[in-house]
Formats: sequence, C-alpha cells, structure tokens
Amino acid sequence: MTDLVLDRVSKSFVSRGGMLPVLEGLCAQVERGEVVAVLGPSGCGKSTLLKILAGLISPDSGSVRWRGAAIRGPSAARCLVFQEYSLFPWYSVRRNIGFGLEVAKVARGKVQALVGEWIERVGLSGFDDFYPAQLSGGMRQRVALARTLAVTPELLLLDEPFAALDAVNRAVLQDLLQGLLAESGRKTAVLVTHDAAEAIYLADRVLLLSSRPSAVVLELTVPAPRPRRREQLYAPALLQHVRELEEAVRNLDRLQVAGRIE
Ligand SMILES: Nc1ncnc2c1ncn2[C@@H]1O[C@H](COP(=O)(O)OP(=O)(O)OP(=O)(O)O)[C@@H](O)[C@H]1O
Ligand SMILES: [Mg+2]
Repeated sequence: MTDLVLDRVSKSFVSRGGMLPVLEGLCAQVERGEVVAVLGPSGCGKSTLLKILAGLISPDSGSVRWRGAAIRGPSAARCLVFQEYSLFPWYSVRRNIGFGLEVAKVARGKVQALVGEWIERVGLSGFDDFYPAQLSGGMRQRVALARTLAVTPELLLLDEPFAALDAVNRAVLQDLLQGLLAESGRKTAVLVTHDAAEAIYLADRVLLLSSRPSAVVLELTVPAPRPRRREQLYAPALLQHVRELEEAVRNLDRLQVAGRIE
C-alpha cells in the first residue's frame, strides 16, 4: 500500500532577485511502513519538501497525496522533527514531551503515564524536570524525538535530526531511532540527512536530489531488512551502497536523469 504520492511537485519562493525555483517536477512515492532517506546539497529544498509533506506549506503545482487524499494542512498524523532543536525553552523535559498530547486533549492522567514511559524509552530518566538549556544537544534531540513519537504519528518526518551532534552521540541516537522505528510497528518515515552512511543504515530506500531547482536524480534500495545492526554497515553489501551514494553526491552535476542502483 502506498502512503505518499508526490506528482510533479514544484515550489518557488519570492526572493530579492525575483522568483527562486526550489523544487521542480519532483515525483516520488513512499510505501506504508517504509523509511525513505532524502539527501541533496544544502539549499536544494529538502526542508521545503518536508514542510510540504507536513502540510505547513503548499506546492505551487503538482499534487501531494497522503493515503489517497490531498494534503491540505497540518495533521497530528504527520509530524515533523525540525532541523533545529525546537523545544520550548520555558518548559521542562516532562512538559515538552507532553505538549503534543495536551494539544490533542489526551486526559491528564494518561499524559503523565505516556510522558513517563517516553522519558524512559529515550533514556532521560532523572531529567524530567530539567529545562532545555540544562540539557546537552543529544538530550535535547531525545526530547524532540519523544515529543513527536508520543503522539503516535503515522508519518514521521525527520529533518537532519542528528546533524548537530558529535559522531558518538549521533551513532547512539541513530540506534535509538532505529529501535523506536522497529518497536512502533511499521511506521512510515521520511528522513532528511547529509550523511550517506546514516541514510543507508536507517532507510529502506534513498532518494538523492539534485541542486536547485531539485528533482530526484538517483534512487537506491538498501538490500537488508530493518532493524539493522551497526556492524552491517561495514559488511560489503551496505558499505558498497554507502560508497556509491557518496560518489553520487560528489558527482551530482553529472547525474541528470533519475538513475537506479540495485
Ligand atoms: N520561506 C522562504 N522564503 C523564501 N525562501 C525560502 C523559504 N524557505 C526556503 N527558502 C529558500 O529555498 C531554498 C531551499 O531551502 P531549504 O531550507 O528547503 O533547503 P535544504 O535543502 O533544507 O538546505 P539545508 O541542507 O541547508 O538544510 C533555499 O535557497 C532557501 O533560501
Ligand atoms: Mg534543511
């Protein structure tokens, strides 16, 4: 079953010099339960694409459908974890995680129970009453993940969730996300990243976007079921895909038409 269908999606922004075309004729599909990673050069429109999928902005032309219906606005079913940490600085860990549940008018007792559960699942036990400024970057991103997953979205949109972290913390959080995606049944997710290894480790399929105005120039299917173990990244099958993807990123200018590596 297909969850997302993007058909010839184009989007421009007004800029000082006129119109800035960002996405041009972008076509893609995401199946139910699939994790799709999106890579592309800085400024090519990856965050714009996620905002369109979240229903925060609309395309100028083309159609974006979620489970058969056109996306016309935001919905609790499609949640975005932003590129920058987007916690409320004046709320504690507990209140930040509970925020979405409160907005969804979940009963108070249930919010408390769910928040407690999520604090534990993301490894923040004991930090319940800390404020974002008192947390490390990795901890803040754990809160952001918990806050989003606590409302049980059907589509998880992740915008470079670990880009600001050091390599060790990034690996820990990648493993945490991998586990959470596996635990929560087959959740559909779109993950924007600059990191080829992260894409191959976490996704079923990878889409590489060209520079602006962007369209899909390469699609790559990862030949291993999820959840994966980190060691698999160093085995020839996946390592080869990481290398091919990194090479494609380096040679982006030469990739004009959608190619395919199996
Ligand atoms: N609201 C806006 N108004 C005007 N221009 C915008 C707006 N949002 C994005 N842009 C422009 O659209 C282009 C794509 O932006 P976007 O944030 O989607 O890129 P990105 O691929 O996510 O980049 P990065 O990898 O650096 O996060 C950029 O040139 C940006 O300046
Ligand atoms: Mg971005």
